[in-house]
Amino acid sequence: MPTDENADNEAQQNAGPPYQTAKGVHDILPKDHDYYTFIKKVVRHRCRQAGFRRISTPVFEYTDVFRRSIGDTSDIVSKEMYTFEDRKGRSLTLRPEGTAGVVRSYIQNGMNSWPQPVELYYIENFFRYDRPQKGRYRQFWQFGFEVIGESDPALDAQVIYLSNKILDDLGIAQLFTLQLNSIGSSEDRQNFAQALKDFYFGKERSLCANCKQRLDKNPLRLLDCKEEDCRILAQIAPKMSDHLSEESKEYHEELKEYLGELGIEYHENPSLVRGLDYYTKTVFEFWDKTDGAQNAIGGGGRYDGLIELMGGQPTPACGFAAGIERIIANMKREKIRVPQKDDLHVFVAQLGKEAKKKCLPLIVDLRDNGIRTMGALGKGAIKTQLRLADKFKVPYTIIIGITEVRENAAIVRDMRVGTQKTVPFDKVVDEIIKRIGEENRDMYSPGEAIY
Ligand code: HAM
Repeated sequence: MPTDENADNEAQQNAGPPYQTAKGVHDILPKDHDYYTFIKKVVRHRCRQAGFRRISTPVFEYTDVFRRSIGDTSDIVSKEMYTFEDRKGRSLTLRPEGTAGVVRSYIQNGMNSWPQPVELYYIENFFRYDRPQKGRYRQFWQFGFEVIGESDPALDAQVIYLSNKILDDLGIAQLFTLQLNSIGSSEDRQNFAQALKDFYFGKERSLCANCKQRLDKNPLRLLDCKEEDCRILAQIAPKMSDHLSEESKEYHEELKEYLGELGIEYHENPSLVRGLDYYTKTVFEFWDKTDGAQNAIGGGGRYDGLIELMGGQPTPACGFAAGIERIIANMKREKIRVPQKDDLHVFVAQLGKEAKKKCLPLIVDLRDNGIRTMGALGKGAIKTQLRLADKFKVPYTIIIGITEVRENAAIVRDMRVGTQKTVPFDKVVDEIIKRIGEENRDMYSPGEAIY
């Protein structure tokens, strides 16, 4: 009997070229990169405005970083991690999410001596051995942010506000509802876990296989199981809100007041527990208005115990992350188009070695002047090169042949109307700038560096 994996490989190989992407991963083709670029810009802009600095942690960490923080009983750690040994037998894991690595870095780099709270954001790829389906991949991208060092419901409100603001900038906030809950302090949760165990005692037979296993180690997860029978039981199970301490209750009430001040609508959802073990108090997710939890676009919450759990000083924190593939799917669903800045301005065609010698510095000059230029530097006939220029949909083609070399000139052809004129070689760049318009030059500058 072939294993699932063998069957997948066979199916893939029968279906097309011998080498294809591995199951659950995909190429990001140029068209989709326009969306990634746009989303990154929005995230960078909004995070910068709010005082966040960017961080990148390594693609892999020692496995314990994730096991300890996300929790052994979570689906991510128990089923979804890409874990391998290096040549010295150390266990390493491809990052399945961003918070654990950021917390590890906060402690390792002594960020507790920086002005608090430390506000960090990231835009990275992550890896989970999830069952591939629409919106669920084995390599996916997230943007996320973490606010580490202070605890105040106003900070949670700001994190939620920023998350919502970014979805709004991307034109998709209206497709989602903000689901909000408090899962209390770790002590509240222990009490609640016990209440759940007592409730489910004797009802184990009605639970799905997954929940039967979770009951002992992580009973809170039973509340967000998607199986019909488990959901029916979850509805009559004890409620977290009845097991919150006064302090947790006040914290949650205050958060809701601040959300009100910021004009953020939310739905109180007592079954929202999130799939990662590090949360305390506030948890939230953005659910699709039609699919519900199935394709949550993002989620986050407070994790006041995590830094201490990972070996740092007791330090409160909260954060959020959203899935970029899911964002793009929703932007497309809403028919949102993003700026496309890759269109070429000019195609340079040439005939003969002498012409090519003139073309090379001209192409450099055009590009340095912010003109997006493609040169046909192969050996094709002029006709073939012009056909190529048509395919690239360039507005202008510069043609240099034997005559133009002799006369120190170039032909500038308007591809849309088919007219052309001869221009002195040293005026070509100016001529193109005039035609494409000063404002359309691609003069992006990374800013001044000091050398
Ligand atoms: P998460 O809910 O596991 O939270 O993931 C956040 C988002 O990443 C999800 O809502 C979803 O959009 C996207 N995502 C997750 N798995 C996949 C997948 N297999 N394929 C495509 N997209 C996926 C976290 O990761 C927490 N670290 C969030 C956080 C930050 N909490 C505090 N700070």
